[in-house]
Amino acid sequence: MELDKMDENDWKYHGEGNKNLVVSHLQHFRVLRFLKYSTEDSENAPQTSEQTYRHIVDFGKNIMSPLLGDRFVHSGEVIKLPLEFVRQLSIKVQHKRPQWRCKKAMDIYSGCALCLPNLTLPPYNLPTHTPPLCIEIKPKCGFLPSARHVSRDIKTKICRFCTHQRYKVANGKWKRSSLYCPLDLFSGNKQRMYSAIKHLIEEPQNNCKIFKGGQCIYEGNKGSEDFQDLNSLLQDLRPYFLPGTPMLNGHLANKAVLNDLIQVLVEALLNNGGEEQGMRLERGGDGEEGQGFCEASLLTTELKRNSCPGLPRDCVLSRILHTQMLDSLDIEGLQPLYRRLEKHLKLYPGDRSCLQLDGPYDAAFLDRTQKCPAEDDGSIDYAVAKVHQYRVALTAKDCSVMVVLVPRGEDEGLSGQMKARDLLCSSRSSAPRFSFSVSIVDLDPKPFDSIPRQLILDHQIVSFYIENQ
Ligand SMILES: Nc1ncnc2c1ncn2[C@@H]1O[C@H](COP(=O)(O)OP(=O)(O)O)[C@@H](O)[C@H]1O
Ligand SMILES: [Mg+2]
Ligand SMILES: [Zn+2]
Repeated sequence: MELDKMDENDWKYHGEGNKNLVVSHLQHFRVLRFLKYSTEDSENAPQTSEQTYRHIVDFGKNIMSPLLGDRFVHSGEVIKLPLEFVRQLSIKVQHKRPQWRCKKAMDIYSGCALCLPNLTLPPYNLPTHTPPLCIEIKPKCGFLPSARHVSRDIKTKICRFCTHQRYKVANGKWKRSSLYCPLDLFSGNKQRMYSAIKHLIEEPQNNCKIFKGGQCIYEGNKGSEDFQDLNSLLQDLRPYFLPGTPMLNGHLANKAVLNDLIQVLVEALLNNGGEEQGMRLERGGDGEEGQGFCEASLLTTELKRNSCPGLPRDCVLSRILHTQMLDSLDIEGLQPLYRRLEKHLKLYPGDRSCLQLDGPYDAAFLDRTQKCPAEDDGSIDYAVAKVHQYRVALTAKDCSVMVVLVPRGEDEGLSGQMKARDLLCSSRSSAPRFSFSVSIVDLDPKPFDSIPRQLILDHQIVSFYIENQ
């Protein structure tokens, strides 16, 4: 990519979240990721600096990658673009953006962006005849907090996602409630995972997207009107899952496609890169943790209770779950430590930087995060370590998993050093099978100053749930 010859016509709108807008290259398997800022404070807008982008890359590379595994994490690089290119690009993509996302605008002032591989496509520009599929899942928090730290019993029974759903639907964020429960997805039990993924696809909201040939073809209906409904999606996916079965009628065929898609996804999410299968990570073990299931999930209690094989060590979900579990105190248990730190900073404002509360995100930050004393010794170091852990966990609760599926036989064009097995894992079972590659995106640091807001939100969600039980 020649930075001085950038042309906005080589790029197209790809997608966005609350904080970033992504464009993809028409030919190369690359994306550019731009920060967004709120248009309400557009007067003092261009605060986004190169430093913010560098922090994002450092956090991904030095903190999240060691915790989640470098085979899943691509931290990318900061690039400096011609301002005119960025301005033209922002005009070009504007009409593709969903209306409800337009309260924020793309950063056009810093001239920076993150350049990343396009993770909705297979690695190394792998040529394929059939467009590859990619399923993006935002799994959210997969465990319940320990009863020791929370003031409301309900938090140890019903997971954050399920309580938050009720709040969001009541506040009009979504029309219908999702029946997805993260505790089922993270259970490692195939039946429970199947059910979780089915609910995700049926009511995707913000938590599930499907791409074909790098293009988003399915997402929550709050997005643009262009997206298809579930039935036309399944029809579209039919050649991937039911090649050569024209006799099956529409409804049955769609059911079979959905079933197969979910099976392949379960397999990809449980894959641990060829290590001995069957090594299962037990949850907790010290008896302090909450139960491994959520009472809001519609599965029978029996299935939930008696089905805890846990996740295979080193599969993507296990890595994410264990990073999420660095939040061992819950926001309520963290609160006094945050206060301790705040008091300290009032006396010694200079410590904000040497305690690395806003970075830099380097080896020392990871060290502080990982070498936390087991017990609270009343020190600032303990408080800092817990706050760091909480923020890292928050990032892991908000990331997305991208599963790219390439129909088998399509991955054979590789030779030499690029052995297919290094790039793509193959599914084990019979039937129409796929090679897949799994990665994790959206690993930005969460600001230290957002902690008080987290506490307020937690209180609102939980109180609302209790009042509306
Ligand atoms: N490296 C990537 N390759 C392909 N698509 C990506 C990549 N990074 C992000 N995306 C897509 O762009 C969307 C928004 O990016 P994300 O990093 O999640 O932004 P936010 O921080 O605002 O949530 C994601 O949901 C995903 O669909
Ligand atoms: Mg996101
Ligand atoms: Zn739940």
